[in-house]
Amino acid sequence: MSAKATEASGLERILTLEIARVTERAAVAAARLRGRGDEMAADQVAVDAMRQELNRLPIDGTVVIGEGERDEAPMLYIGEEVGTRDGAKVDIALDPLEGTTICAKNLPNSLAVIAFAEKGSLLYAPDVYMEKIAIGPGYPANTVSLEATPTENINAVARAKGVAVEQVTACILDRPRHARLIEEVRATGAAIRLIGDGDVAGVIHTTDPDETGIDIYLGIGGAPEGVLAAAALRCIGGQMQGRLQLNTEEKVARAAKMGISDPNKIYSMEEMASGDVLFAATGVTDGNMLQGVRFTRDAIITHTIVMRSSSKTVREIKARHQDLAKFD
Ligand code: FBP
Repeated sequence: MSAKATEASGLERILTLEIARVTERAAVAAARLRGRGDEMAADQVAVDAMRQELNRLPIDGTVVIGEGERDEAPMLYIGEEVGTRDGAKVDIALDPLEGTTICAKNLPNSLAVIAFAEKGSLLYAPDVYMEKIAIGPGYPANTVSLEATPTENINAVARAKGVAVEQVTACILDRPRHARLIEEVRATGAAIRLIGDGDVAGVIHTTDPDETGIDIYLGIGGAPEGVLAAAALRCIGGQMQGRLQLNTEEKVARAAKMGISDPNKIYSMEEMASGDVLFAATGVTDGNMLQGVRFTRDAIITHTIVMRSSSKTVREIKARHQDLAKFD
């Protein structure tokens, strides 16, 4: 990408490093409460830490996917303006602690997550459910679709990968609402990795099946997490679709207020996250792709992935923080 195009996108390259500080800080705060059985406390400290760090950044940022609508979230609510306000104008999707229950139970794959995008380029999704399907890079376009059945999608992945369907693994949230989906996927012969929580990680795991063992993500999870996952996939590559679950008039009305006129629309990955996108995630607990925060006698060690859609660069940052006071 030319320097001119980079400038035009408004996401200065320097933010690639700055964004990592934001998720590192939130992850360290949450990790201190790992395994203590208190989801709310872990989430609160992550929110506080992420907000504090965001407000140090030279950006003119607006939270578009956040902790909730203004009347239900005191901090990092949708519409909150963050940053020093004298830098690039960016829209921000964030989840300071994705997988609050995972963190409280100290199970794998809870993350601190954030995406910066050019203004107007993230889907302003209400906090409702979203049906999602995702696969990693390297497949022909339109290999999977929410218009196809789970059986058709699993078979399409097997065919495109050139393997028997028994060698395909689908990741699905372990929820009663997925009973029929699970039954159908099992009937194809494919394996299922059932996860208790954390479908941002579930979607990202499809991008590296050799490492994670997951080929396809299927099922219904949070819409905000869907937009965050789409932002990540835009950077690494892959295919994803999402359909909001607007099954009451109240939800249709809330979505309409956010500019969504067709409640049944299937959103492509590019419609959920268009333009130039920066994405960062830091492991809170150990996971398939990211190590959780380590506290040693004299340092805190964090593991972060930072990626950018325009260059498709994926950086892993293993940081050893010795100035422990800054995390107090
Ligand atoms: P939290 O971090 O807010 O607890 O979300 C965890 C999560 O598992 C998400 O990854 C997922 O999208 C959503 O919850 C699923 O919602 P539900 O728990 O209601 O099925």
